[in-house]
Amino acid sequence: MSEAVQRVRADRQWWKEAVVYQIYPKSFFDSDGDGIGDLAGITEQVDYLDALGVDAVWLCPVYDSPQADNGYDISDYRSIFDTYGDLADWERLLSELHDRDIRLVMDLVVNHTSSEHEWFQRSRRREGEYADYYHWRDGRPAAEADYDTDDGPADEVAPNNWESIFGGPAWAYDEEREQWYLHLFDESQPDLNWEHEAVREDVYEMMGWWLDRGIDGFRMDVINLVSKTPGLPDGDPDGGLVGAEHFMNGPKVHDYLSELVAEAIPDDDILTVGETPGASVEDAQRFVGEDGLSMVFQFEHVNVGHEGDKWSLEDYSLVELKESLARWQNGLADEGWNSLYLSNHDQPRTVSRFGDDGRYRDRSAKLLGTLLYTLQGTPFVYQGQEIGMTNAPFESKSELRDVESINFVEEAIESGAAESYEDVRDAVETVGRDNARTPMQWSDDENAGFTDGEPWLKVNPNYDAINVEQARADPDSVWHYYRELGDLRADRDLLVYGTFDLLAPDDEQVFAYTRTLADERALVVLNVSAQAATFAVPDEAGDDLELAIANVNAPETPGSTVELDPYEARVYLTPADSTDRPTTTNSDST
Ligand code: GLC
Repeated sequence: MSEAVQRVRADRQWWKEAVVYQIYPKSFFDSDGDGIGDLAGITEQVDYLDALGVDAVWLCPVYDSPQADNGYDISDYRSIFDTYGDLADWERLLSELHDRDIRLVMDLVVNHTSSEHEWFQRSRRREGEYADYYHWRDGRPAAEADYDTDDGPADEVAPNNWESIFGGPAWAYDEEREQWYLHLFDESQPDLNWEHEAVREDVYEMMGWWLDRGIDGFRMDVINLVSKTPGLPDGDPDGGLVGAEHFMNGPKVHDYLSELVAEAIPDDDILTVGETPGASVEDAQRFVGEDGLSMVFQFEHVNVGHEGDKWSLEDYSLVELKESLARWQNGLADEGWNSLYLSNHDQPRTVSRFGDDGRYRDRSAKLLGTLLYTLQGTPFVYQGQEIGMTNAPFESKSELRDVESINFVEEAIESGAAESYEDVRDAVETVGRDNARTPMQWSDDENAGFTDGEPWLKVNPNYDAINVEQARADPDSVWHYYRELGDLRADRDLLVYGTFDLLAPDDEQVFAYTRTLADERALVVLNVSAQAATFAVPDEAGDDLELAIANVNAPETPGSTVELDPYEARVYLTPADSTDRPTTTNSDST
C-alpha cells in the first residue's frame, strides 16, 4: 500500500469527507406565515437538503434571544427562541436529519451572551460568583483620557479606548452596577470573562447538555476573541480596529481552547470549527494542532480587497487571492485541515463577491462551486449559494435589518462622512450582511415562496428568475452542477485527501491546480475572468486525464493548451484507481 493511501486511512474522518450546508434559520423557510423562518420550516425542507446531497447542516443560533444580532445574542443556551419553535421541534429536526444521514452542527456563541441572560442580570447585581462573569471596570476620569465616550457619568469615559466590531466604543455604562462592561459587539452582547473558571465550567456543561441530545458538532462563534490581555490596556489608536491586538488571539486563547476541547469534546468524531477572525496560518496550525479543533474559519481570502475597514472594498487581483488560498492549503496540508467557504451569513453572496452576478452569473456561480469542492478541506455551502443567489438592492436605510449595517449608516451620517444613505448605499449593497440574509428563494410565487406573511427582511426582487423550483427543473442549472460536484467529491478520495499544488501562480486570469493522491491526479482549471484565456498545461499535470465536470462544453482531454471561455471551469481526473478504496481489495495491500 502506498504511503499516501496509508495516510488517508489513518486520517479518515467523516467531517473531512462531508459537505456542510449552512442554514440561517430566520431566512430559510417559514412554516407558519409570520414572515420569519422556523425549525418546522427547516424540517419541511430536509428532503431538499438530501436531494442536494449534503452531509451535515450547520444551524445558526436558534436559542432564546432578544434578536438584537439575530440570535448571536443568547439569553438562554438551553431553550429555543419561541418564534422558531421549541425543543420538541428541534428534536424533530434532528431526527429527520439523522434519518437521512445528515449530521447537525450547532452554533456555539460563548464569547458573549445577551444582556438579558440570567448570568448578566445576576452579574450586574453583583450576586456571588456571578459578579465576575463579565468584564466590569470603573470608568476613567474624562480629563485623563484622549478619547471620548457619550455614555456614563459626565466626568468619566470608558475604561479604555477599545472599539466595538459593530462600531463605537466597546464599553457601555450600566446604571444598576454603576460600572462599565465590555462588549466587543453590540451593547446588548456583553463579553464573558473567561478568566473566571466558573464561566468556563458553565460553558462546558452547557456543551455537554447539547451533545447529550445527539448533535454532531459545534461551530464556535468568534472563539479566538475569548482571551483579553490582562489589565485591558489601551489599544494602538492608529492600528485599525482599536484594541484588536488585546482581544484577537489573546494571550490565553490556546489555553482556553485546548481546555475546552479536553473538557467538553468527547472525541474526534465531533466536528469543531472555530471562527477565528484575524488568525494567521500559524495561529490556525495551533488551533487545529495542539488545541484540537477540527478546523477553523479563517478570514484572509474573504478580506482580499479590503485595505481599510470592511466597508471599503477595492479591486484585488486573482494572483492575490490564489496566493492566500494556496498558503492556507499548504499551511494546513500535513497537520490540520482547512474549512472552505466563499460566503456565509456575514459575507456578501458568493457570486457577487468573487464572480459576476450579471452576464456570467450562472457560469461564474458554477466556477466558484468548482473551486469550493475541489480545494483540500471541508466545503461549507451557504443557503442560496447552490442556486447562485446574488446581493440585493437596498433602496433605503429602512429596508436594512442588520445591526452592523444600521450602525454603519448612522455613524457615517452622524460623523458627517456621509450626507445621506445614498452616499453609503453602494458600500451596504456590496458588503452589508443583509445581502446574505434575504429570504431563500424557493419559487417565483409571492415572497419567493419563503412565507405567506410579510417577510422580516425584503426578498431579493430577482427571485422570479433565480429560485429553487426553476433550478431543479433545469438540468443545466447551478443547483444540478452543485449536486454533481458533491457526487464527484464523494466518489473520489483524491478530491478529499489529495495534496494541493498551485500551478501558474502569476497568471492573472486562470486559477489552476492539481490534486494528487498516490497515482491519482486531478487538474482543475478555472478562468476567473470575463475574458477568454489560454492555459498551458504543464508536463507534470500529466496525461491520462479525462474530463470529469465542466461548466461549458469542453474537450474530453486537456491537451497541452487549454482555451477557456469567460468563467469557464473544468476538472480533469485520472481514472479512479481502485487500489485507493479502503472498501475494495487492493492488489498492493499486502
Ligand atoms: C460572528 C457571527 C456574526 C455575529 C458575531 C457576534 O462573527 O458570525 O453573525 O454578529 O459573531 O456574535
